[in-house]
Amino acid sequence: MIGLEDITYSYRTGEYRALDHISLTFRRGEWVSIIGHNGSGKSTLVKILMGILNDYEGTITVDGEVLDDENRAELRKKFAIVFQNPDNQFVGATVEDDVAFGLENNGIEREEMVRRTEEALKAVNMLEFREHEPSRLSGGQKQRVAIAGALAMAPEVLILDEATSMIDPEGRQEVLDILRTIHHQGKTTLVFITHDLSEIEESDHAVIMKDGRVISEGTVEEIYQDADALMASRLVLPFHMKLSKQLLDGSFMSYVELVERL
Ligand SMILES: Nc1ncnc2c1ncn2[C@@H]1O[C@H](COP(=O)(O)OP(=O)(O)OP(=O)(O)O)[C@@H](O)[C@H]1O
Ligand SMILES: [Mg+2]
Repeated sequence: MIGLEDITYSYRTGEYRALDHISLTFRRGEWVSIIGHNGSGKSTLVKILMGILNDYEGTITVDGEVLDDENRAELRKKFAIVFQNPDNQFVGATVEDDVAFGLENNGIEREEMVRRTEEALKAVNMLEFREHEPSRLSGGQKQRVAIAGALAMAPEVLILDEATSMIDPEGRQEVLDILRTIHHQGKTTLVFITHDLSEIEESDHAVIMKDGRVISEGTVEEIYQDADALMASRLVLPFHMKLSKQLLDGSFMSYVELVERL
């Protein structure tokens, strides 16, 4: 669905390339995780996808169409993003106003707006909070509302840029639960950016970035076994993976499988 071909980008103030010849393909309905330590270029990649940065070198295709100045605004409507900080993304006085905001901006009719807002809040299990003030929710709840706001726009691609990094483990699980549900429905392409290797387990495809380059990509199993890339990017294997490597045959095992084997 999305093709990035040889994307290179330098910030005006930067002496080096924030993205250095990146080529990636995201298939429709796929859950892609992008991992990498601070400054590896993950958010820059997202900003390019979202059209916040446009003066890149290389080619981006969306559904086979090359992104250019003419179709950019239209094609970008297929994308929605949830950011890292749950406190910086609310505009509405209530949860439902907040979710409806993007729809209203896009001139969606009232009836349709109400229906889509309800549906999105239901999907993230926050309908009962519709009249609450966003600022009084927990971190996990806030991110769920932010995801509802993105879902209400019916995006074909949902991008989460470290959307779990500022919330507690319980909140992270809530967000991952929602992603799992969205993924099972098969309609939305998920681009999930994280520092945390334990959060990529369910993705179909994972990419490790370092210094603006892709240093490894493949299935989660392949990524977990690419010790050099993990070491180079200072990523820490999840505890259950370390344990299965040391105690058992070292092959990839999910947490549940490991528990069963033990
Ligand atoms: N607005 C900017 N101006 C100049 N340089 C920037 C700007 N934003 C990012 N950079 C630089 O570009 C490189 C990539 O940054 P980016 O934000 O894409 O990394 P990241 O992988 O998202 O990191 P993090 O995990 O900390 O969010 C870094 O070296 C960073 O210092
Ligand atoms: Mg970032």
